[in-house]
Amino acid sequence: MSDDPSTRPILCLWGFMGTGKSTLGRALSEQVRLPFVDLDARIEAATGQSIAALFAVQGEAAFRAREAVELRGLLRRRERGVIALGGGSLLDDAVRAEALATAYVVSLVAPVATLLERVGANFRPLLGDDPASRLGELLERRRPFYRQAHASISSADSSPEAIVAALCGLWRGWN
Ligand code: S3P
Repeated sequence: MSDDPSTRPILCLWGFMGTGKSTLGRALSEQVRLPFVDLDARIEAATGQSIAALFAVQGEAAFRAREAVELRGLLRRRERGVIALGGGSLLDDAVRAEALATAYVVSLVAPVATLLERVGANFRPLLGDDPASRLGELLERRRPFYRQAHASISSADSSPEAIVAALCGLWRGWN
């Protein structure tokens, strides 16, 4: 494998809920004509349950275990493509190390106000009924982890087209 992570076959988009991982990941995959996987959707398809139901019924630890199994399966196949990760999927040290060693990991970042606007409409188990107070605190705690990605891009300051173009410029796995 090349020492340059940008040449790896898989690009993983990471970052907090509402940073645009799924939307931008799908757009990037269409641009470069490679398969796209949304990790949350894959977990829902594999378990037959929504993420909210998995959290409610089995709890976060069981969800994380399932998330790690699905992600490791994808990473180990090494098939070229784009994966939109869940916001907490690389918080575990071993899973994060595996992703950083196998894929090119880009964190998307956006200000709290933008994230609140974007997640406002959809219920997220970890933010509960009061996203406004929970989101900033959770983001602060996770920031050091998101910073460990190979690269970071703001998803708040430019158009989706410009962000996709920037991702194409960073990653050479689509060649
Ligand atoms: C989570 C983010 C969610 C989903 C789950 C947990 C997190 O995915 O995996 O609710 O811990 O940040 P998105 O980041 O795609 O919303």
